[in-house]
Formats: sequence, C-alpha cells, structure tokens
Amino acid sequence: MKITIISGSHRNPSQSEKIGRYIESLLKDDFDNAEPYLYLLADNPLPLWDQSIWEQDETWVARLAPLKEQLSKSDAFVIIVPEWHGQVPAGLKNFFLMFNRFELGHKPAFIVAVSSANGGAYPVAELRMSSYKNNRLCYIPEQLIIRDVEKVFNRKPEDNDTEADSYYKSRLNWCLDILIGYGKALKTMRNNTPVHHDDFANGM
Ligand SMILES: Cc1cc2nc3c(=O)[nH]c(=O)nc-3n(C[C@H](O)[C@H](O)[C@H](O)COP(=O)(O)O)c2cc1C
Repeated sequence: MKITIISGSHRNPSQSEKIGRYIESLLKDDFDNAEPYLYLLADNPLPLWDQSIWEQDETWVARLAPLKEQLSKSDAFVIIVPEWHGQVPAGLKNFFLMFNRFELGHKPAFIVAVSSANGGAYPVAELRMSSYKNNRLCYIPEQLIIRDVEKVFNRKPEDNDTEADSYYKSRLNWCLDILIGYGKALKTMRNNTPVHHDDFANGM
C-alpha cells in the first residue's frame, strides 16, 4: 500500500521532518507491503497558490505533475502538522489548495501533530475543520499529538525521555495499523461507489 507522508513544517531542519523520517523507516521496515513516500514542505517547495494554476500555466503544471501522480497513486496519508502560533503552518494550508478530490478524495489520513511544548490540539482541530471540504480527504478518528517533541524520537537513546518515547512509539504503531485498515477498506469503497459527481465537484 502506498502511503504518502507530508511533513508540514517550512523549517529546515524541523522536528516534523524528524518524525516524518521515523515514520517512513518504520513503515518500510515493520509493515508488510507498506510503500511510504515522504514529501517535505521544508523551504517551501510550493509557491503560494495563484490564479494561473486555474489557467493551466505551464510552470505550475510541470511543478505539480510529479506530486499529483504520487498522491493519486497513494491509498493513505500521514499528515504531520506542527503547531505554529496556535495554527496549521501556512505552507500546509497552501498544499491543500493545490490538490483535489482526484488525488486525495475518499482516502484516509492520519494526523500527527507536533509541539515543542504542550500544544498540538489547535492544528488537529483546524485540519479536521477546514482542510478536507473540496478534496474529500478522510481524517481517521485516531490521531497522535507529540508534545515535548525534542525529547522523543531522537536517534540517541540518551536524548529521549524513555517513558514518553516508548508510549508515543507504541501508539504510533497502533495508529498506523488502523490507518492501513482504513486504506484497504476505503479502496474497496472507492472501487464500488461512484464517488465523483460532476454536479457536486466541491463540498457544500
Ligand atoms: C513560527 C512558530 C510558531 C510557533 N508557535 C507555537 C505554538 O503556538 N504552540 C506550540 O506548542 N509550539 C509553537 N511553536 C514551536 C513548535 O512547536 C516547534 O517549532 C516544534 O519543533 C514543531 O515545529 P517544527 O516541525 O517546525 O520544528 C512555534 C514554532 C514556530 C517556528
């Protein structure tokens, strides 16, 4: 199963990237048939949306084509979202403007929120409220909020808070199993159901 992981931080390097790389290796090594692909928003690879996207501007078409293909082939997504000023970073919201129901529609997504302190709830709420209407991405009920992120998922064990690190890792494994379950179920659903309707291209 192809699973695309989006690291939603513009920073380079970032804690979101650290978590994304961990999830990528975990899926490769410990989950049978999982084919992860990690896409980083570090350094803003996607410029802000502009009108020429809707006019099939050649530069935009060329820029988005490889990513569109990758997203279209994916059966599930992991969306890693840091909390920035109590919000989802602008680059991740921009990402959601670029892709539509044909790439993301009726596919499950698992939210992993990241905070260097005790935040993380606001971006989960924001994604669940306002990032899926037109593209029909399906956020699964499970989520992971990684607090004090600098103290977990580090390569050197001595840099980690052992108890928190172990809790997050086991919960992550469990959530990925559930994501894959939804991935299989929703693939069947998409194959058996007319999910696209020209009269209802956008959510209400
Ligand atoms: C512009 C900016 C605003 C931030 N605002 C918050 C915040 O509101 N709440 C919070 O818990 N952490 C906040 N942080 C800290 C992040 O949680 C921290 O940078 C963490 O490492 C996740 O972001 P990263 O993936 O970019 O590293 C902020 C970080 C930045 C760069």
